[in-house]
Amino acid sequence: MLTSKEYVKKLKKECEPLFQFAENGVRKFFEKDPSKEELINYFVPRVVNERGNCTGIAARVANLPNDATPEEFWMLSKQVYDEAKHFRIGMDILTHINGEPVDVGEIVTRMKNRTKENGTMGPAQLMEKYESSTDPLAQALYSYIGEGRAARNWSMIAKTATDPLLAKKYDEIAKDERFHANIGRKKLEEICTTQEMQDKADELAREFMDDLYTIGLAKRLKNKPELADADGCVKSHYPLGAN
Ligand SMILES: [Fe+2]
Ligand SMILES: [Fe+2]
Repeated sequence: MLTSKEYVKKLKKECEPLFQFAENGVRKFFEKDPSKEELINYFVPRVVNERGNCTGIAARVANLPNDATPEEFWMLSKQVYDEAKHFRIGMDILTHINGEPVDVGEIVTRMKNRTKENGTMGPAQLMEKYESSTDPLAQALYSYIGEGRAARNWSMIAKTATDPLLAKKYDEIAKDERFHANIGRKKLEEICTTQEMQDKADELAREFMDDLYTIGLAKRLKNKPELADADGCVKSHYPLGAN
């Protein structure tokens, strides 16, 4: 059996194709020098997703068990604060791109309705799907995989966006996301100490990765139907590479 630290290293390797797939999508979008309208459409779901991260992690904090350490309380509460900060920075960025303030209530309602109507999810909604507010393993995997992916994506915006404000702000956000992924790493190292837990984590991690591929591919599938299964989802992550 692997030690829990070895297990997390194995998981890190398995996440790498997903992270590369996601950051390549970001790079391609910014390299084509997007228009104002394209930028707004790109950032609206991302900004609303930061709000979803804030409320999703807050739900976990509210449900922490009696034996949760002050350290865990502090780290997750810091994440709630960070996600609120990202939501605020995102709204500032939208105003900057748009040239005038964007109606926050309108975009949050629009994104929530889109989820209801099409069943499309943002990454933060995976916390609800996997009931991570009461499941430490699901929460740790969301942090490790979802936040790890976010860190890579936002770093890529910082590297490729031609607007210096975008580059600077997303560099700042990426640093926080690395901290959040680290919360997941610590928790996984704490709980994945038996074969049974590692098997359970493997199974759940695959589902997370499938969901994150599907979210990332929602747009790209329009041009590459061969990557979708019968339900319009991606079921085999590893061969996709940098498509
Ligand atoms: Fe965030
Ligand atoms: Fe985060």
